[in-house]
Amino acid sequence: MTKITVRTHPNLALIKYWGKRDEALMLPTRSSLSLTLDALTTETTITHASGRDEIHLAFNASTNAQQKVQSFIDLFRKMFGITHHFSVSSVNNFPTGAGLASSSSGFAALACGLAKYCKLNVSDRELSILARQGSGSAARSIHGGIVLWHKGQLPDGTDSYAEQLCNEHHWPEFCILAVIVDSKEKKINSRHAMQTTTTTNPLSYQHWIASSEHRLAEMVTAITAKDIMRVGQHAEQDWHGMHASMRDTTPTLDYWTLTSYEVIKAVEHLRSGNIQCFFTTDAGPNVFVCSHRDDVAPITARLTTIPGVATIIPSGIGGKPKIL
Ligand code: PMV
Repeated sequence: MTKITVRTHPNLALIKYWGKRDEALMLPTRSSLSLTLDALTTETTITHASGRDEIHLAFNASTNAQQKVQSFIDLFRKMFGITHHFSVSSVNNFPTGAGLASSSSGFAALACGLAKYCKLNVSDRELSILARQGSGSAARSIHGGIVLWHKGQLPDGTDSYAEQLCNEHHWPEFCILAVIVDSKEKKINSRHAMQTTTTTNPLSYQHWIASSEHRLAEMVTAITAKDIMRVGQHAEQDWHGMHASMRDTTPTLDYWTLTSYEVIKAVEHLRSGNIQCFFTTDAGPNVFVCSHRDDVAPITARLTTIPGVATIIPSGIGGKPKIL
């Protein structure tokens, strides 16, 4: 094979991953659950390179991002006993490094693409374990639909991988709006911020971790029943817990802008007017608003009146990585 292109989607966690129990193997402190975002894509092309790897990231990638990709390719070679070099080009159709989960689709594409290019016979479970070591959340973008990443318990991480809970056809009426308030790369990357959280270990973080298993079980029940209000209630509680522990961290972590808070307030207001919707954010200022697709028009109309809301990208629940 001379060249391969793979398309993946980032995922949005409703039960979040924040903090590692093993930094080197990227093993999380809690299990998490996410939705695959159909409208957002990463396309990564892999071909042969001579002598050294060539990495072309078609966005304003930081040196840090380039180094992470390089380390991942080195890890891949070591894991599978491969000796040759690769040329990797990657492009996203959405802002990168701005809290829109670009690392999830980025490293999932790299894991799937490298394995396919080298004609390796690897299972989804192995791919998820591989992708996890590029960026934790990438473990979940190996699958489409609604995805559960088991935190696992083993020290070698072989039981820390993602599995599909429901496929992308389970909830076709469900819509996610990515509300872009700032598309610049965030100042504190997630890896560093998580380390600060787990090392300063605020009480609120311990409390959030302690509630994880119960909340995850409740979320699985609500998703299976397609009960949007209960899904929203658990997602927002989980977000509040993550947010509280970030604010409690030393130094404090604050990714949000005034516009982010205005979007959140607008969602709460819409809900009090009987529009079923809820919000979440990742480590960045942009806000995700989820609702039934019939409610998208009034929600969008309200959110676009907020000064500072630049773009709103609607998405459904998407599928698994695809070789183009
Ligand atoms: O995969 P990372 O290291 O970019 O971490 C992602 C963390 C959050 O997006 C904030 C939450 C999550 O579960 O995706």
